[in-house]
Order: sequence, then C-alpha cells, then structure tokens
Amino acid sequence: MDEAQVLTNFTAMFGSAAALYQAPGRVNLIGEHTDYNNGFVLPAAIDLACWAAAAVRDDGILRIYSANFDESVECDLGGLQRSGKWSDYPVGVAWALQQAGYRLRGADLYIRSDVPLGAGLSSSAAIEVCVGYALLDLSGHTVDRIRLALSCQRAENEFVGARCGIMDQFISCYGQAGHAILLDCRSLDYRLVALPDQMQLVVCNTMVKHSVATSEYNTRRSQCEEGVRRLAEVLPHVKSLRDVTLPELEQHRGRLPDIIYRRCRHVVTENERVHRLASALQNGQTGEINRLMADSHRSMRDDYQISCAELDLMVELACQQKGVFGARMTGGGFGGCTINLVNAADSLEFQQRVAAAYRSATGLNPDIYVRKASDGAGPARPRA
Ligand code: GLA
Repeated sequence: MDEAQVLTNFTAMFGSAAALYQAPGRVNLIGEHTDYNNGFVLPAAIDLACWAAAAVRDDGILRIYSANFDESVECDLGGLQRSGKWSDYPVGVAWALQQAGYRLRGADLYIRSDVPLGAGLSSSAAIEVCVGYALLDLSGHTVDRIRLALSCQRAENEFVGARCGIMDQFISCYGQAGHAILLDCRSLDYRLVALPDQMQLVVCNTMVKHSVATSEYNTRRSQCEEGVRRLAEVLPHVKSLRDVTLPELEQHRGRLPDIIYRRCRHVVTENERVHRLASALQNGQTGEINRLMADSHRSMRDDYQISCAELDLMVELACQQKGVFGARMTGGGFGGCTINLVNAADSLEFQQRVAAAYRSATGLNPDIYVRKASDGAGPARPRA
C-alpha cells in the first residue's frame, strides 16, 4: 500500500478529505545507550516512515485506525486511558501534548507504518512523532520540534512505560536528507554530519527479538544510575556518566562492583567514539571508521552485554565482505538490526553474500534494506 492509498482509505473509512503527515524511523551509526546518560549519539533518519492521514473533528474525540494492526480505537481527549496495546503510543502523545499545555482538537487518523515493528529501527518514535505532528498541525499550533520530541519521549516514558532516552524522537523530528546528526543529549545542541555519497546505509535484520529486551534495557539504566551514585561520592561534579572521563573511571574502579564498572566503561568509551566517528566520516578515514564501529560492537557485546548470537554473527559475516567500511548492531539490542556502511559499488554482492551465509548458519531469512538518510517529520505528499 502506498501513501496515496492511505489518503484514499481514510476517505473510504471516515467519509471526508484528509491531510497527510509522515515521520521517519532511524538507524544509529554509533552512540548506543548513551542518550539516557546525557551523552552523545549519531543517528540518521531513514526512508522508512509512519504515515498518517488525518482530519479534525469538533467533538474532542480521537478515532485512530492502524492499518498494521487492522484495529481502531476511540477515546475522549478529556480522559485518555492506557490500554496496554499499540494505541498507547498515539494516545500517549495526545496525553503528553496536553500535559505540555497544548489545547488539542479531536481528530480522525488512519495510520500505516513502513518501519518494521520491533526491529530496532524506532517504529515507536515514528508513530509518536507522526501523530504528534498531525495533532498539533490540525489544532492550529505551530510545530516546535523540540517540544514535540520531548513530549513524544514523555509519552513513551510515562504513558507507555518504557524508559527510553531522547535519541529516537529527536532524530525523527530533525533528520536531514544525506546526513547523520551528532546530538548532545544533555543540551540538545546538534550538528549535521554529511554522509559520503558512495557510502550506503545497509541495514541487516536478524529477524530475532529476544523477550528480555525491555527488562534488560531498564536494568542497564538502573546500573548506570548506580554507577553515577557511587562515583558522585568522590567526584561531586558527576551528575551523569556523561561527566566521567576514562582516567576518572579507572582511578575509582575499586568503588564499583565489576558489572557496574563495565557498564560505565561502555558508556564512557562510547561517548568518545561518537565524536571520533563523526570526524572520521567527515575526513573520509575509512580505517578509523572500521575500527570505531568494531570497538563499539565489542563494547556492547562484552561490557554492556546487549548483543546476542544472531547480532554477533551478522556483524562477523559483514566484516568478511568486500567494500565494508564498518558494521555494528544498532538500537537497544537483544536482536533487531545491524548497521553496515558499505561501498555502493559492492553493495549488491554484500547483501547477497551476507543473506546467504546468515541463512545457512541460522535457518532464518534476513531482511536487508538499503536506506537513504532522510528528512524528519512533516506534512507530506504521496511519493511519486
Ligand atoms: C532505544 C531507545 C533509545 C536509545 C537506544 C539505545 O532505541 O529508544 O532512547 O537508548 O535504544 O541507544
């Protein structure tokens, strides 16, 4: 189904004309689990998006149909409730925008997402930002992208109940075609990092998602908080792991249980790698790109322990191919996707070889997507 179909289906279902909005998913090139430690990330929005056809209503009611789930929900903006299912994402955004002081009008929405659900490409942020954008625009508000991103994060933290950082919602709002974004998750200052034309973003989906993903994510956050508490006893300037240097961490290693030390070491070294990868991309230092992405993957595998056998295998197979600038897992971990920077001329062969080798080792048929770094959320026209 294409975007024109989203509009047509809206009219068939709700009986009126609609405006169209989109918000993209993302890949993260480096900087994993650093966002909620007030650190640095380097994501790019991709050309897989959530689409919403939407029209305003006068009665304060939200009616939302999801084409992915083939299911509708209806609720009153005056009393939004959790349901424990997919609709908590869009409904939570309406709740958070109202909490932020926006007066919203009722609306009918028809939603369809191209972002594979639960694959680590940020399908949640795409639906949140898309619906948030639509509701603000339909209610006559100018969209302030920072407030939108923060409200979407709040929806996920407080309404859905997942303790995510700001990366996914931010990049879905601020993505720029052809660029990754180096974001400081404390100040929310950012700068664009151009991606070289010959370097393709190849995303390899392991097709597994281990059920521990959510609980382990929250455990990692608590472990980082414990690290901060213990280090702040001797380093009073430390408010988050962002404030800790590697020499400081090594000096006070004895104050930390080994597992906490290793979690901290991942975050501290990963923050450093974000800056180094941004400059390596800018300066075309391919050897350095390769090293940094390999170090990042190893750090996630051994210190942060968020990888899994399928992700490790996918990265290992990628690194054996010709034309690979770098490969690592991307996103929260415990399954989902790897991101591979691949020389465009070698890309087809890369995809075929990795897919065949992964299939023969695991029996799973991986989805492999070549994506373009894309613009962030906004009103949309159906693609030609
Ligand atoms: C998920 C979260 C993000 C971030 C990543 C890990 O995608 O939503 O906030 O923490 O995991 O880098």
